[in-house]
Amino acid sequence: MKRPLFVANWKMNKTMAETQAFMDEFASYQLPETTDVAICAPFIDLAVLANQKVVATGAQDIYPAEAGAYTGEISASMLAECGVKYVIVGHSERRTLLHETDAFVAEKYHYAAGAGFVPILCVGESLAQREAGEAEAWCKSQLDAVFADAQALPDEIVVAYEPIWAIGTGKTATAADAQEMLAALRAHLAALIGEEKAQAARLLYGGSMKADNARALMAEADVDGGLIGGASLKPDSFLALINEGSALSV
Ligand code: 13P
Repeated sequence: MKRPLFVANWKMNKTMAETQAFMDEFASYQLPETTDVAICAPFIDLAVLANQKVVATGAQDIYPAEAGAYTGEISASMLAECGVKYVIVGHSERRTLLHETDAFVAEKYHYAAGAGFVPILCVGESLAQREAGEAEAWCKSQLDAVFADAQALPDEIVVAYEPIWAIGTGKTATAADAQEMLAALRAHLAALIGEEKAQAARLLYGGSMKADNARALMAEADVDGGLIGGASLKPDSFLALINEGSALSV
């Protein structure tokens, strides 16, 4: 069995003081040794998290240029100085609210990988696409945009399936739905990047994941972890999710 990976995506939540308070509590917990845990925090909070060794950290975005006239953006070297390991790319909120295209997501993915980070590529369909029976084709096309013409790949491949209709809504995909999609995405990845890399890839589920449903989701063969919004904002609820999600791998 693969090492589970639970990644908090704090989105636009927590000031620096709130981040410090979270860590003060979280650092007192015993995390399962079988599991990888990361927190993707707002940029300024990454500086607060830079000096702790409790969890890996990740950014929620990156700009694909070294430095220069890119108002409001963040560079790889700035993130590296904060000790960041992961970079989320292609989150549906950025695709929707900030109009990020597949091509731009692909550019960011490969830029982040080239800079030594582990990109976490997010894919996921809207409710209308799911109801129209287009979910799988849509998510596969989001993989194609990043992997079809890839010259080089990062050592660690992480893809998060986040159905948009399940994000922040309290509606979780059933474990069977998540498994069906992730199995299809792994098979598609195998065609794009080869069987070995596809099998080694960690595929995450995201969308109202919490302690109550983590164990059932993690029991599925192709669910290797989670990308967690709401349930990661409080130290105790994130810990409970990590423990439940790790129960089968201990
Ligand atoms: P929620 O866990 O709040 O549904 O958010 C999921 C998500 O978008 C993580 O990136």
